Amino acid sequence: MSIENKISAHYTHGDLLAAIESALFEMSKTVDTVTEKDLGPVGEFHIGGRIATDNLLDQLAFTEQDHILDIGCGIGGTARHIASRLNNKVTGIDLTDEYILVGKALTDWVGLGNHVQLHHGSALDLPFEDYMFDGAVMLHVGMNIEDKATLFKEAYRVLKPGANFGIYDVMQISHGELFYPIPWAENSSNSYLASPQQYLTLLKQANFITCQETMRRYFALDFFNTMQERTQEGPPPLGLHTLMQDTVEIKIQNMIKNIKAGFISPFEIISHKPLNT
Ligand SMILES: C[S@@+](CC[C@H](N)C(=O)[O-])C[C@H]1O[C@@H](n2cnc3c(N)ncnc32)[C@H](O)[C@@H]1O
Repeated sequence: MSIENKISAHYTHGDLLAAIESALFEMSKTVDTVTEKDLGPVGEFHIGGRIATDNLLDQLAFTEQDHILDIGCGIGGTARHIASRLNNKVTGIDLTDEYILVGKALTDWVGLGNHVQLHHGSALDLPFEDYMFDGAVMLHVGMNIEDKATLFKEAYRVLKPGANFGIYDVMQISHGELFYPIPWAENSSNSYLASPQQYLTLLKQANFITCQETMRRYFALDFFNTMQERTQEGPPPLGLHTLMQDTVEIKIQNMIKNIKAGFISPFEIISHKPLNT
């Protein structure tokens, strides 16, 4: 099995749309009444969920006129949130076929079909023309991609000069035996963590200019504390447990242990493609 097939198999649920529909029933919602906001807790598969997305977007200055690319969009929660926030056009691409099928259905349910387009494909071979997008985001995806040089080269190719690129990934901050499984990998064979310095070097080699990098370790630990307090009251109908099913607890516990041990941390990196290219 190729690495990409393994990664996609890791994320495939098998019956995700039905699981989301049954959670909606518990929320007394239907596919006709559900809102983009209702789907946020399941649609944003990264530490800090929507708060983290907004934090990243606040640094990117995207506007209503901008067509934004979401690389590794999952089931499209971030793409739909950007489109609701800005009333703009957003395109997402993801390796996991089921995520794209589910993402398209959710996008139609909340009436964002004219704003958000989701495609099945690889970030390493983007099916888009050069200079097509006014900006891009990538949230919690690089941990599954070994060849980050090609990843950033592809992002650079499809962006217009002057476009901003916001990354929010989990990065390696010291060496140590990680606790597995974690949300993006069952074991070390599917995990391609890199250090912030490696990201910066590869972004520079792809000709991006980086203006801001922020470690989000304390934000992550606060987020997990709050999540654990809430979970004691019982999990909400929709959440990351809908995606990760019965492995959610061990994966989150291991993520917390890895962050507390100082092995990994989420990081934001804000870069742009220079104007004179
Ligand atoms: C942890 S999820 C994050 C999803 C989404 N960015 C979010 O924050 O909700 C990682 C996603 O990266 C996707 N992915 C991993 N490798 C990829 C690749 N080479 N090309 C496109 N998507 C990829 C997976 O299919 C998965 O949906």
